[in-house]
Amino acid sequence: MTTTENSPEARYAGDTRTVTLRVNGQEVTREVPTRTTLADFLRDDLDLVSVHLGCEHGVCGCCTVLLDGGSVRSCLMLAVQAQGHEIETVESLSADQNNLHPIQEAFAEEQGLQCGFCTPAMVLRTKEILADGQERTDDEVRHEISGILCRCTGYQNIINAVQNAGRKLRCGGAGGCGSAHDEAKGA
Ligand code: FES
Ligand code: FES
Repeated sequence: MTTTENSPEARYAGDTRTVTLRVNGQEVTREVPTRTTLADFLRDDLDLVSVHLGCEHGVCGCCTVLLDGGSVRSCLMLAVQAQGHEIETVESLSADQNNLHPIQEAFAEEQGLQCGFCTPAMVLRTKEILADGQERTDDEVRHEISGILCRCTGYQNIINAVQNAGRKLRCGGAGGCGSAHDEAKGA
């Protein structure tokens, strides 16, 4: 037997499992190699290409998805570890570009993105942290998004977007409270 044949890749190449989970509200069952990461499963098997791969070893946070409402780095999880869990990607937030989620509207309004590579992760992390309905200071937002690296924006516009999204969600959605968003911004 050669060294190549005895490598971990060779030994586990044919090892598969059936995994069943919910992804963006739909139950999904697939046979997957046990070595497949959750990120690769979402992108390659389910075509959810909002899941972006940067470093692929847990540093950049761009592969962030929500697992049972909490953010996880999908490059560090195996697909089989998601068995029985609920996964959300940014594709779940809006049906099309004319019906954006309030968080997506806030990122657009505040120019909280440039190249967009980190944006799906930032939007999902924003959904997670705003679930408590609380207002946040700049420093609090800065700390809460610190696990996701943005190469472009300098972060202040993202912080503004998170705070804007919080105002929208607290009043029930975009425009639901008339001019209150603008008043809150100027306060
Ligand atoms: S691609 Fe997962 S943390 Fe960078
Ligand atoms: S907008 Fe480019 S990496 Fe964040």
